[in-house]
Amino acid sequence: MNTADRKALRGLHVAIIMDGNGRWAQSRGLPRLMGHREGVRRLKEVVRACPDLGVQYLTVYAFSTENWRRSRREVTGLMSMFARSIRREARELLKQGVRMRFVGDRTGLSPVLQDLFAWIEDLTAGNTRLHMTVAINYGGRDELVRATRAICAAVAAGTLRPEAVNEELIAAQLDTRDLPDPDLVIRTSGEVRSSNFLPWQSAYSEFEFTPVLWPEFTRAEFETILDAYGLRERRFGGVTA
Ligand code: IPE
Ligand code: IPE
Ligand code: MG
Repeated sequence: MNTADRKALRGLHVAIIMDGNGRWAQSRGLPRLMGHREGVRRLKEVVRACPDLGVQYLTVYAFSTENWRRSRREVTGLMSMFARSIRREARELLKQGVRMRFVGDRTGLSPVLQDLFAWIEDLTAGNTRLHMTVAINYGGRDELVRATRAICAAVAAGTLRPEAVNEELIAAQLDTRDLPDPDLVIRTSGEVRSSNFLPWQSAYSEFEFTPVLWPEFTRAEFETILDAYGLRERRFGGVTA
């Protein structure tokens, strides 16, 4: 795609389910955590590519509310990797004009990680070149439960009438309240499911499933997917003029 065509895609919100780290590692006889480590490297490449490719919002699934079912070793390894990556990449993210956000239930995470989230969100709050959101301890159903509780509490307190509840009000209670809905959701590793990722927000998103494992996801693959997305017709329930 040429630069002019790319411009037409400006302001895109791409969400990625970065899957396949474990299989990538296992197929090489490596521990699963090595796959996650390689996955962080691919994420850095994708982040760097986004502004050139017209992507203004990037939201990635790093740890689901269901991922606690994994071995203690893998879970603690992932948590320390998240903390390490935030510390290590902060300067580079600032330099690249990336604004960082986190979605998911933070109260279930360690105080150290919660502090790091708050620290980097604050540090990068003035950036606008790329809005990057990382979903950690995120589950779409859990997010809807938390939002529903907040709405019910307001109704019970008498500060909200049930008739005032509408789509905008619900969206404003979600962790993603400051983000537009994703235009495109990509899942790697050949699995064709959403695994509790952004169910409300992706109601009208386009989906792309690629067999490539996340640790092998390249900028070229990303570009190919974005090019294909550019050819799709989004109707939102209407009909083509
Ligand atoms: C995705 O890769 C990353 C996380 C869920 C943290 P997986 O770890 O799910 O990799 P596979 O699916 O086992 O290959
Ligand atoms: C989804 O992948 C979560 C992340 C990529 C962080 P999983 O590997 O956990 O999903 P399932 O278990 O295959 O549905
Ligand atoms: Mg997986």
